[in-house]
Amino acid sequence: MSKKRVLSGMQPSGLLHLGNLMGALDNWRKLQDEYECYYFIADWHALTTNYADTSKNRMYTKEMVIDWLAAGLDPEKSVLFQQSLVPDHAVLHVLLSMATPLPWLERVPTYKEKMEQIQDKDLHTYGFLGYPVLQAADILIYKANFVPVGIDQLPHLELTREICRRFNQFYGEVFPEPQPLMTEYPKLPGTDGRKMSKSYNNCLYLSDSPEEITKKVMQMVTDPARVRRQDPGNPDVCPLFALDKIFAPNKWCEYVNVECRRAGIGCVDDKKEFLKHLLAYLKPIQERRNELAANPQKITDIIREGSHRARAVSAQTLAEVNRAMRL
Ligand code: TRP
Repeated sequence: MSKKRVLSGMQPSGLLHLGNLMGALDNWRKLQDEYECYYFIADWHALTTNYADTSKNRMYTKEMVIDWLAAGLDPEKSVLFQQSLVPDHAVLHVLLSMATPLPWLERVPTYKEKMEQIQDKDLHTYGFLGYPVLQAADILIYKANFVPVGIDQLPHLELTREICRRFNQFYGEVFPEPQPLMTEYPKLPGTDGRKMSKSYNNCLYLSDSPEEITKKVMQMVTDPARVRRQDPGNPDVCPLFALDKIFAPNKWCEYVNVECRRAGIGCVDDKKEFLKHLLAYLKPIQERRNELAANPQKITDIIREGSHRARAVSAQTLAEVNRAMRL
């Protein structure tokens, strides 16, 4: 029996942090055995917002693949590739764009939100409006059955499904309708207590050394009302405790949950214990990262090889699409 297909992508717009690892990457890793997985670097998507400054594209692409491999994505199991090395995505994008009604794109919630939020870039571009059509092409060109995404991507996936149905109605049943694979994972707090996000500058990165991680954790915000060691604290509002619950053993969490409330334990004590567990968790990832970073040719080869495998599949779908559309 052939395996169902999974596809997902990430924009190379920064280094990966602990929130990306727990929220997405770890889930991608687990899907590798049960599904035929396609994971790609969405470097064209990154251009929709970063078109004016492409200087970091290559660096981020390479670093992202290193992060992926370090986190356990396996090029023997999954097809790891780069969008711009598979031009068929762009061909399908053009074909899908012909039949995509403009109002469908204008009403995507992230479209107006991002335009309002991002003030330092002009997003009144053709490419930015067409972002979800490109995403639909990414997914449909592999006839993906499942797309693991976070909740923020659901509107994009819904649009993909609408575009898919419209295509199938006009030209015949070419594409299966892709389903979201939701990752139920709580957002990790960053070092300032807000959700971990590169735009807040509060991240623990996979590429941080143990020393950097230690420094960041030691400066991390805890219960803001707990000013002095002798003040009782409230773990329920403490971002450090939220991380404890993920990385520290239950026994420790139960202990903190009691002792913090009666000032029996200080934040520094908790930070030290937390660090022990976090660093142990990150150690193999960081070791793999260092090995890979020392061998950039290997990274290039993996992306080339994966993109080659992706092109074999995309070419087949495109041939079918051309036939269906009588091109
Ligand atoms: N839009 C996704 C994000 O920003 C990245 C992406 C591009 C993607 N194409 C995709 C995700 C196809 C899943 C499937 O996170």
